[in-house]
Amino acid sequence: MRLCFVLFVACLGIALAKPQEAKYTTKYDNVDLDEIIKSDRLMKNYVNCLLEKGNCTPDGAELKKHLPDALHTDCSKCSETQKNGSKKIMRHLIDNKPDWWKQLEDKYDKEGTYKKKYREELSKEGIQLQ
Ligand SMILES: *[C@@H]1O[C@H](CO)[C@@H](O)[C@H](O)[C@H]1NC(C)=O
Repeated sequence: MRLCFVLFVACLGIALAKPQEAKYTTKYDNVDLDEIIKSDRLMKNYVNCLLEKGNCTPDGAELKKHLPDALHTDCSKCSETQKNGSKKIMRHLIDNKPDWWKQLEDKYDKEGTYKKKYREELSKEGIQLQ
């Protein structure tokens, strides 16, 4: 009888804890991406943060923390703003900063698996992964 109760409580705990982990924080969704894209200096800061070559702003640190998971899970925990934002940044980097993009690919997609996985989907969005 007691075991039953313990199991029930454990299961309930897991069930309740899950939804909170289902999405990344939207705390930084109001960051002005156009401002960052316009400024090479700001953009470089984020890139260096992701490459572990420089300091991270709080939102940069958050991005770095979740990027591998987001790539792995098809950005399924991303808010729509985050998805849109990722595409915008990717487009900018691929078109205008191919060397920074390459370095990010080398770090986060060494085997080229994600490139393969996302190539088709992103080409529909006008993002051409080489
Ligand atoms: C994201 O992009 C889609 C397609 O361009 C658009 O319909 C949607 O309103 C955007 N959402 C946000 C939150 O920016």
